[in-house]
Amino acid sequence: MTVIPTAAAPIAPPAPAPAPASPAYLWRNGDLVPWGEANVHASTLGWSTMAAVFEGIKAYRNPLTGDQWGWQFAEHYARFAQSMRLQRMRPEFTPAQLAQASLDLLRANGHAGDTYVRPLAWLSDVSWFTDGLDSRTSIVIITEPFRSHLQSGRAVKTCVSSWIRVGDNQLSPRVKCISNYQNSRLALIEAKQNGFDQPILLNLEGKVTEGPAACLFMVRDGTMVTPSLTSGVLESITRTALIRLGREELGLQVQEREIDRTELYVADELFFCGTGAEMMPIGSIDHFTVGDGGIGPLTRRLEQVFHDVVRGIHPGYADWRTLVRKA
Ligand SMILES: Cc1ncc(COP(=O)(O)O)c(C=O)c1O
Repeated sequence: MTVIPTAAAPIAPPAPAPAPASPAYLWRNGDLVPWGEANVHASTLGWSTMAAVFEGIKAYRNPLTGDQWGWQFAEHYARFAQSMRLQRMRPEFTPAQLAQASLDLLRANGHAGDTYVRPLAWLSDVSWFTDGLDSRTSIVIITEPFRSHLQSGRAVKTCVSSWIRVGDNQLSPRVKCISNYQNSRLALIEAKQNGFDQPILLNLEGKVTEGPAACLFMVRDGTMVTPSLTSGVLESITRTALIRLGREELGLQVQEREIDRTELYVADELFFCGTGAEMMPIGSIDHFTVGDGGIGPLTRRLEQVFHDVVRGIHPGYADWRTLVRKA
C-alpha cells in the first residue's frame, strides 16, 4: 500500500541527531524480539501510555574481575508489580519471570559494561481516554549501556521548586507512572531556566519531598535524615539500600521523618540518590552553600561503599546482586 501525500507542507525539521547504536533485541511479552521488528501501531500512541509504569534498573561491571552484576532485580520487579497493581493492570508475568527475562536479555545483547535495564508496562488496547480496565497489559524490557557518575567529584546546584510535588490522592508518587513525571519535568525546566541543575520539590504541607527522579538525604550533626515514605516520595530502592549501608557500614543514625525547607539551608551535607542519580552530591541549595560546596565527608564515604557494593567489589550484601556474566 502506498502512502498518499497531502497538501499540508511540514515545517523543515531540524537535522536529526545521529542514532545511538541499538541493541540486538528487546524483550516483549515473553519473547526476545529483534530491535528493528518491535513496532507498535501509530494509532496507539498517546493514551495507551497515560497509565504506563516503568522501572529503571542497573547492571554494574566489577572493574577488578570483569564480572557483571545485576543490582537489586528482585526489589525493582517487586516495585514494578506494585506499580502495575496500583494502576489496576493485569500482568501475565511474575516479578521472578521478569527478573529472569532481564538476565536473558542482558546476555543476548552482550553488553559487558555498565548497563541500564528499563521495563515498561502499558495498556496496549487503549487508543483514547478510557478506564482501561478491559485492556491487556503489555510489557517490554530494553537494555542500554550507560556511563556511571559515581565518584565523578561533581556537586550540583539546586533550588526549591515553585512546583508542588504531586500528592498521594492526586497522582501518587508511590506509583512509578510516566504521567507523574510531567510534574518533575516542569520543576526541572524551571530550575534549569533559573540557572540551577536540579530542583527539590515540597509537598502541599510545605515539607521536603524529592528531586525529579531521585530521593534526598540530608546530614545534620552526623545523622542521616531522609523524608519519610509518607512525605510524597517514590519508595526508592537506592534510598532503602543507603539507609542500611549508612547504619551498617558507617555506623550512623538514620532518621526517616518530615524535613522542613529551612533545614536544607543549615544541613551539613545533602545528596540525591536513585538508580539514575546513583549518589549525586549537592553543593548548594537556593544559593546557600552546603558545607564547603563540594562533596561532604560522610557523603564521600557512603558513595565509596555504595560503589563497591553495586560492583561486587565489597563481598557483602550478596542477596542484592545477581551474576549476569562471568568475565
Ligand atoms: C521520582 C523518583 N524518586 C526517586 C527515585 C529513586 O528511586 P530508585 O532508588 O528506586 O531508583 C526515582 C527513580 O530513580 C524516581 O523516579
